[in-house]
Amino acid sequence: MDLTNKTVLIIGGATGMGFATAQLVEKLGGNTIIAGHNEEKNNKALEQLSDAADAFYVDVVDPKSIQKLFKNVKGVDHLFVTAAPGGTGDFVEAPLEIKETYIYGKFWSLFMITKEAVKKISKKGSITFITGGFTKNPIKGTVLVSAAFHAVEGFAKALTVEMAPIRFNVIRPGFIDSGFWDFKEEKEREKLFEENKKQIAVNRIGRSEDIAQMATTIMMNSFINGQVIEVNGGKLPT
Ligand SMILES: NC(=O)c1ccc[n+]([C@@H]2O[C@H](COP(=O)([O-])OP(=O)(O)OC[C@H]3O[C@@H](n4cnc5c(N)ncnc54)[C@H](OP(=O)(O)O)[C@@H]3O)[C@@H](O)[C@H]2O)c1
Repeated sequence: MDLTNKTVLIIGGATGMGFATAQLVEKLGGNTIIAGHNEEKNNKALEQLSDAADAFYVDVVDPKSIQKLFKNVKGVDHLFVTAAPGGTGDFVEAPLEIKETYIYGKFWSLFMITKEAVKKISKKGSITFITGGFTKNPIKGTVLVSAAFHAVEGFAKALTVEMAPIRFNVIRPGFIDSGFWDFKEEKEREKLFEENKKQIAVNRIGRSEDIAQMATTIMMNSFINGQVIEVNGGKLPT
């Protein structure tokens, strides 16, 4: 099983889980197209990929930018989306304007992307989204994150019916040291990793490669469809 002659579009592919997936896709013989809203990061990633790889600008909260991306890319066999602006925040202080919330950054961006993607993607292809552990185990400050994740998981499941035979799946990662947490000070980040490690059965924080392995498995196995797959090292009871 490999990805020879397959083209994989990874939105969010310049960094973290998306970039690890781009690298693995190439090892498995596929061609990668990465897309993101930071040209510098796109170019840096492209330098580390093969000559066949390509990069495009896209801002996932801008419908025109999404339409332009899908106009520019030729055939796509598989799509993996990790990009999602926004994050946690106090429920009481949450803005009433939906465009300023994580619901828009996570869920509505995928809605807009998928509407364009289904016009371009191979009927034998797949689309994979990312949610996270807050779907099942919300903590304070994750009301909109959890709501967005639930929406994405329901969206994917229903799409498998409406858009068959294109496959839709969701990876629900645990705690992953993908660079996503780099906004925190090093000491604070290390403390966070140590605390989280105690709750993970395999006693380590996840790596971007753990997610890349699952993302490519989903692409290659045409019988995986409509699933939410947890990749979290096993959670210990707290
Ligand atoms: N890491 C974890 O522990 C964890 C756990 C559960 C779920 N997740 C999910 O995983 C995803 C993050 O992936 P990651 O961990 O690999 O982090 P990451 O490296 O930050 O990847 C996200 C990528 O998306 C890009 N992006 C952000 N906003 C964008 C926009 N408006 N348009 C286009 N691209 C945009 C980012 O670019 P910039 O950096 O330039 O903004 C970055 O390249 C999120 O959806 C998150 O919910 C992560």
